[in-house]
Amino acid sequence: MSVTVLALPGNESLASALAALTQATLGELEVRRFPDGESYVRVLSPVAGKDFVLAATLHQPDAQMLPLYFLASTLRELGAARIVLVAPYLAYMRQDAIFHPGEGVTARYFARWVSTFVDGLITVDPHLHRIPQLEAVYAIPCETLAAAPLMASWLKQELPDAVLIGPDVESEQWVSEVASLAGCPFTVLQKTRRGDRDVSVSVPHIDAFRGRTPVLIDDIVSTGRTMAAACRLLTEQGFARPLGIGVHAILADDAMEALHQSGLARLITCNTIRHASNGIDLHPLLAAATTRLLNQLRQSAPPREEA
Ligand code: R5P
Repeated sequence: MSVTVLALPGNESLASALAALTQATLGELEVRRFPDGESYVRVLSPVAGKDFVLAATLHQPDAQMLPLYFLASTLRELGAARIVLVAPYLAYMRQDAIFHPGEGVTARYFARWVSTFVDGLITVDPHLHRIPQLEAVYAIPCETLAAAPLMASWLKQELPDAVLIGPDVESEQWVSEVASLAGCPFTVLQKTRRGDRDVSVSVPHIDAFRGRTPVLIDDIVSTGRTMAAACRLLTEQGFARPLGIGVHAILADDAMEALHQSGLARLITCNTIRHASNGIDLHPLLAAATTRLLNQLRQSAPPREEA
C-alpha cells in the first residue's frame, strides 16, 4: 500500500524525515490564507486509495486546526484509504479537569473532534496527568511515545554526574523514568502556580546531591516560568547553574529570556517542536511508530467511508 506524507506549514523537516525513514512519498500541498483570514487547502498529489500521514505538531494549535481538519476532510472525500496524524506535540492536554466553575474539559472536546477526522494518532509524551491514557479521550488508535530513553542516552553520554530534578509532582513520571534509564539520582520539587507567569517552587531535600550537576527535567517548557523558578531556587541553594532538558519546546513569548535571567546554563529539547534548543532527535522513533500504526490500521479495519 502506498503511503504519502504531507507537511502542514512549518512541519517540513518532520515530514521529510518521516518520508525518508518509512520509504514513503513526500506529497505536495498548498495551504494559504485568503485575505479575509480563512484557510485554503489544496492537495497536489494523487489521493485515491493511498494511505496518508499528516505531519503537524500542534503547538499554537488554534491556527493550525482548521487547515488540518480541511486537509483530512479533503483527503477523505478524494478517497484516501487511511489518515494518520503525527503530532509530536499534542495540544490541549493540560485542561484535563475543571479547575474553576464555568470551565470545560477542553482536552476531551479536542480529542473528540480530532477522532472524527483522522484514523490514528502518534504523539510524544502527551501531558497525561488526570487523563490516564490517550485512549480514555481519543476514540481512535493512538501510539503514545516516550522521549525518556533518548533523553537518558543523551544524559549518559553528556552528563553522567547529573542529579535530575523535576519542578513539580506532575513531572515525577518523566523524571523518575529518565533517572532510572540514565542511572542518575532524582528528586521532585513542590510547585505553586498562581498565574500563567507566576510560579514558585519549594526547597527540596537535595543536600545529598551536592557535587552533582543539577538537570531540570520537564515535559513542556511553555512560558519557562516553572523551569526558571526551579533554576533560581537551586542556584540560591548554592548549586551549580542547572541545565534544563524539556521534551516540548513551546517557549512562548519571552520564555527564553526568563530562562536566561534565571541563570539556566543551557536548555536542551527534543525536536517535537522546531526550536534552536533542539538537541535530541525523535524523528526515527516517530517513523517507526508510523509504520507500526499503519500496519495495525490495515490489519484491524477496512478504509473508513466518508459519513
Ligand atoms: C505542567 O503541568 C507541565 O508539566 C509543565 O511544568 C508546565 O507546562 C511548564 O509551563 P511553563 O513553562 O509555562 O511554566
